[in-house]
Amino acid sequence: MKQLVIAIDGPSGAGKGTVARAVAAQLGYRHVDSGAMYRAVGWKALRDGVPLDSDDGVAALAERSIIDVTPPLITIDGSDVTRAIRTPEIDRAAAAVARLPKVRAVLVERQRECGTQGAIVMEGRDIGTVVFPNADVKIYLDASPDERARRRAADPAHSGGPTAVADVATLLRTRDAIDRTRTASPLYVAKDAVVIDTTGKSVDEVVREVISVIRPYLRSL
Ligand code: DC
Repeated sequence: MKQLVIAIDGPSGAGKGTVARAVAAQLGYRHVDSGAMYRAVGWKALRDGVPLDSDDGVAALAERSIIDVTPPLITIDGSDVTRAIRTPEIDRAAAAVARLPKVRAVLVERQRECGTQGAIVMEGRDIGTVVFPNADVKIYLDASPDERARRRAADPAHSGGPTAVADVATLLRTRDAIDRTRTASPLYVAKDAVVIDTTGKSVDEVVREVISVIRPYLRSL
């Protein structure tokens, strides 16, 4: 059976992480969370006092870092940052470093290396548009802003503890605006992506929909 490259993109809170993990598990594929790479680099830049707006400084830091996003652990230079990168502070740091073109170039290269053998489900913002423009299957997950804020607020791994939905909604809007309007690889729907609106749907329903999009490609070769 063909070993597909599957790209899953979309804004924060659309359900990419949960869905990508479940789809990869069903197919026996590797799941790569590209956002965790930006988070790990943001975490290390903060720790080392590298300014988050220095493209050269942060790109050099990324270049000399060993980043491993093999589930369930995220490590950078051997330090386990799995939990440390899921805080509001790192939300901001990751969004800041993700705007920098040289940083993106370093991480896009690492992401492409993960995909050379196929059999991968990679989630992010630019996977179908930039990282793997020739991906076998491109999915764009979306949900209403209210639903995305509710999901984030209910998830302590993202909200950093019990948080008001309104606060999360404000942070989410700010981060969405950064991700969609930055000049380097803004978030947009690839022209050949299948858009799935996850509003009001269970994880199982969305996973079934995604698998039904993928199934014909599994059979095609
Ligand atoms: O998916 P996430 O929230 O963990 O992503 C963290 C940040 O990195 C977020 O601001 C979007 C950005 N990102 C990106 O620019 N490109 C990707 N492929 C993945 C994430």
